[in-house]
Amino acid sequence: MALADGRSAATPASERVVSELVCRGCGHVVAADAPRPFRCPNADGDDVDHVLRRRLHAAAVEKAGEVFAGAEPNPFLRYAPLLHGYQAARHGGLGDAEWRVMVEVLDEAVATVNGHGFRETPFGTDPLIAEQLGVAEAWVKHEWGNVSGSHKGRHLMGVMLWLQAAEQLGLEPAGERPPLAIASCGNAALAAAVVAQAAQRRLEVFVPTHANPRVLERLSILGAHLHTCPRQAGEAGDPCYLRFRDALSRGAVPFTCQGNENGLTIDGGKTLAWEMASALERHGSRIDRVLLHVGGGALAASVIEGLREARDLGAVPRLPRVHAVQTKGAYPLARAYELLSRHILGRWAEESGEPVPETAAESAALLATTELRFFVDEGLDHASSHRSEFMWPWEEEPHSIADGILDDETYDWLAVTEGMLETGGWPIVVDEETLRRANALAREATATTPCHTGTAGLAGALALSGDGALDPAESVALIVSGIERG
Ligand SMILES: Cc1ncc(COP(=O)(O)O)c(C=O)c1O
Ligand SMILES: [Zn+2]
Repeated sequence: MALADGRSAATPASERVVSELVCRGCGHVVAADAPRPFRCPNADGDDVDHVLRRRLHAAAVEKAGEVFAGAEPNPFLRYAPLLHGYQAARHGGLGDAEWRVMVEVLDEAVATVNGHGFRETPFGTDPLIAEQLGVAEAWVKHEWGNVSGSHKGRHLMGVMLWLQAAEQLGLEPAGERPPLAIASCGNAALAAAVVAQAAQRRLEVFVPTHANPRVLERLSILGAHLHTCPRQAGEAGDPCYLRFRDALSRGAVPFTCQGNENGLTIDGGKTLAWEMASALERHGSRIDRVLLHVGGGALAASVIEGLREARDLGAVPRLPRVHAVQTKGAYPLARAYELLSRHILGRWAEESGEPVPETAAESAALLATTELRFFVDEGLDHASSHRSEFMWPWEEEPHSIADGILDDETYDWLAVTEGMLETGGWPIVVDEETLRRANALAREATATTPCHTGTAGLAGALALSGDGALDPAESVALIVSGIERG
């Protein structure tokens, strides 16, 4: 059997490349022994969307069928064979037992800092939410109980495990550890601080002048080194991001939840999707649609790619329809999807002489058909080499009660757009009233206090339901991603 990388399946298992990181923009393949497999080396300010994606050679994953049925509660152990970090470490000579010890030791340290380590988070049906949406089943993934109160730690645990593996393999010198760096004043920084403290690594956090003092205090308690970043005269762009980039140029490690700065951040995020696949398999259930709220896009990219891999490994029969959810405050991804889908449909209409559908749902359904596959692929290739035609910073200062998804650019936009085009989903832009309604419903249903960012996916589902776009027989899924911080 030929594998996608041209080798034969007869290659001995120990020599087979199971997992590779490849730049979606320029095709650069990251060397298996690169100590920092984070960013495409060709990302030099051209208009190519240099974001690393993982290529998994599903047929080469040993005992893939057993992984999803495993009972191990720690996702970084249960799904280890699916993680790029694990496969790259194994390729470099690290043993399975050594990986397991590394995860257990780090997880125990996380538990000491945080109260508990990484465990499978609940994913189950919620009758009240299903009733409110008017659907047969509503599957809710509860991430507010995860390490540091949001899903963000999954991304950073994946990165940290690779950093530790690289050290064990001698790819990174253990003596002079470079600092870790992140630009954030929210859940990502808090998760980074927990994981960094657990690993006893220095973390530099670049925060804006208006950061929440309670979050700053918590970050300080966690030992993070805070840098307030005022806007400097004559400087364009986010000053926190610019200082973060300065730190990287001095050798710091991008310890972020943004795939363009660190493509490996998607690796740990996928454990969310793999847990969803396991739970569905256990219950003999399926989901028809998933609503994913989007800020920088790493959460949605992780879930989409994780579900796609679960499908390729036979754990879920097909991909659900994917909807990205943004707020009226800022919707750069919805804008990009609109521009790209118009580009694709325009090319198709020119060739076929057929009229372009009028509604978003009809257009999305058409885009997912095999008839349009060629035009979609061509559009995606065009977008990956003409990024600025589709994605640029939101012009106005964005405001929303869901303030964790107000990123002025969607860094992982192409992966999320691809997921929508492939599955017949489309982006939803919600207003403040719907965000409030969703949060109240989630609080009633879960008897917890999620934040408005964390319930924005549910707001998207309420908006679809209000538009009559949901089928009473269908099963929808969403993630409640974060807890309100008092
Ligand atoms: C609770 C919560 N949910 C979702 C998101 C959005 O994730 P992403 O930026 O990866 O799109 C964030 C980002 O800050 C968040 O804090
Ligand atoms: Zn590249």
